[in-house]
Amino acid sequence: MQKRIMSLLIIALSLLNNLNAIALFPKDFKWGAAIAEFQNSGALRLPHSNWAHFEEKNKGFGRHKDRSEYSINHWDDYKKDIELMKKMKLNSFRFSLDWSSIEPKQGEINQEALEHYHNLSDALIAAGITPMATLHHFTHPQWFDDLGGFEKEENIVHLVNFSKLVFKQYSSKIPLWCTINEPAIYPFSGYLIGIHSPGKSMGSDGIRKCVTVLKNILEAHVQIYEALKVLPGGQEAQIGIVHNVLKFTPRYSWEPVESLLSSFFTTITNDLAMQFFKDGTFDYNSMLLFTSINHKNPRAPHSFDFFGLNYYATVVAGFNRENIFGATKFPHQIMGDMDLPLDPQGFAQALEDVAQFGKPIYVTENGVADDTDVRRRIVLDEYLTVIKNKIASGIDIRGYYHWTLIDNYEWHNGFDPKFGLCSADRIIRASGHKYREFIEKNK
Ligand code: BGC
Repeated sequence: MQKRIMSLLIIALSLLNNLNAIALFPKDFKWGAAIAEFQNSGALRLPHSNWAHFEEKNKGFGRHKDRSEYSINHWDDYKKDIELMKKMKLNSFRFSLDWSSIEPKQGEINQEALEHYHNLSDALIAAGITPMATLHHFTHPQWFDDLGGFEKEENIVHLVNFSKLVFKQYSSKIPLWCTINEPAIYPFSGYLIGIHSPGKSMGSDGIRKCVTVLKNILEAHVQIYEALKVLPGGQEAQIGIVHNVLKFTPRYSWEPVESLLSSFFTTITNDLAMQFFKDGTFDYNSMLLFTSINHKNPRAPHSFDFFGLNYYATVVAGFNRENIFGATKFPHQIMGDMDLPLDPQGFAQALEDVAQFGKPIYVTENGVADDTDVRRRIVLDEYLTVIKNKIASGIDIRGYYHWTLIDNYEWHNGFDPKFGLCSADRIIRASGHKYREFIEKNK
């Protein structure tokens, strides 16, 4: 008798759970994974990229001076990657259209590269996987940098022209478009702390160059959005920005250096961009750094059909594991391998932050560097639960793209950090299976 009651209870609970799931995730919710071309196809395939040059200059990255030419070869093996996506039941895939492969020299269009992205898009569609394309994911042709890149406002037109070119090619196949990946992280990493291409840090110019690049890249986003919207297919396409809500917090709020640095960094990595999307103002005024850059574009708040949220963590500023001032964690937190703690509360807050724009939200990146794969399963568990709860509370979240599909070239960290649902030999990890189970249960 007791046994029968127990099994009835289990059936009732699982029914409830299923009902709950059906009620919570919209039917056409996008279950995805995200990649960037350079991180998966490397300098061998993309020799004209700014990152190929940056990598060459630095003779490789990470502890072992890794070279991206040894990354997986997604470019040629994309069919294998689609098989993995199918096995994990993904129904969407975010990838970047690499500008340097399509326009290796200014004005010279590589037809083979154009064909490649047609083939990739066709193969995805045939597999029932909706393509989501990113137009700029930290990389561009070296010639663009030689012209001064985003340091010069007059160069924006080159990215706009590239965007128009590819949109005309693929708009009938690709319904979801991301203009710029992380407009604030590009200048922060490349012009403030100098770990990304072009490897500049605060020099004689102080903070000026970094903030100028940020302003220009935000402006580039608006111009791309407007240029694509008036092209054939522009009204049907969903075009958005991808912003990493990256904030810094002091480990001890009373500690002046931690507090000062946290607020200085957060202004650059988050607040200026968020303000711009909110009301079109961009005001950087630092008496301490003798810098004032002010700009206004009232069209900015209307320049995205969806908001792409990348979220990894809130950085805790203090003394880290190696006793160096940098990124650490609060005692209750679990640390990832790249000194970013697991932070589901921060994720919930980030969703609230971007919900203020009143546009649909796609979580365009989220994940953890984890060579044990244990923490990745925790991330999937906790962060997907946050999404479920936020949808239930009325926030319009349309998709989740885990970063990343397969272990990749993690920029200045080389191959050390393992972000993949699959390993580089294309084996689905336990976390990949867990993601599939979650999708099956909730789609
Ligand atoms: C970037 C990815 C990167 C990931 C993990 C994101 O900021 O868009 O290219 O690999 O973080 O560090």
